[in-house]
Amino acid sequence: METIRKFSAKNGMEIILRPASPDDSSGIIKTLKSPAPERSYVLTEHGGKSVQSERNYLKSLNTEKNLLLVATTGSEVIGTLAALQADEGRRPESFNIAHIGLHIMESYRGFGIGSQMLEYSIEWAREHGFKIVDACIFTTNTIAPNIFKKAGFAEEGSKTRKVRFGKECIAEVSVVKCLD
Ligand SMILES: CC(C)(COP(=O)(O)OP(=O)(O)OC[C@H]1O[C@@H](n2cnc3c(N)ncnc32)[C@H](O)[C@@H]1OP(=O)(O)O)[C@@H](O)C(=O)NCCC(=O)NCCS
Repeated sequence: METIRKFSAKNGMEIILRPASPDDSSGIIKTLKSPAPERSYVLTEHGGKSVQSERNYLKSLNTEKNLLLVATTGSEVIGTLAALQADEGRRPESFNIAHIGLHIMESYRGFGIGSQMLEYSIEWAREHGFKIVDACIFTTNTIAPNIFKKAGFAEEGSKTRKVRFGKECIAEVSVVKCLD
């Protein structure tokens, strides 16, 4: 597959998809800070808390088994996707599973960019020997399930008390796609 992909988003803007480099760290953090009612744990639990930690994370990333993808306008990062090997590759039984999380800057949503990023990551996962890709979505997130369904993911069970805010528990659903 081509590592760098260009396409026109639905708003006519030219978008470039490419693997992230350490110099994208501040753009990635800015994107992740863009408002969203729900966030991807996959994206926020790794380095991505500060620019420096993101930079360190990107420098140390094993890119044979992990993808950190950015969508840019050429000058600005406006989307980011992580496809990370399950259990950091330590367990043979989950060696071929990649967890996906993605986040598009608020003002760039709805233009097909997330779908293009997801397609890229599925192709990348296939080429890198993964057999299963999955993602976890809070059930309060009404938009994200659509993009995964569109890409052929199926819902596979839920955890009814994934997180608790005050007295309210929020459930999470897994979406899975087999690549065989
Ligand atoms: C979920 C998210 C990544 C979608 O990215 P996006 O670039 O806006 O998505 P796309 O434009 O490619 O839309 C893909 C599909 O999602 C659905 N969708 C997009 N925006 C929607 C909206 N506002 N309402 C309902 N469905 C919507 C549609 O089914 C759409 O397909 P269609 O255009 O053929 O109708 C983006 O909204 C986001 O970053 N949200 C915050 C973070 C998050 O929820 N991450 C997911 C957890 S892993």
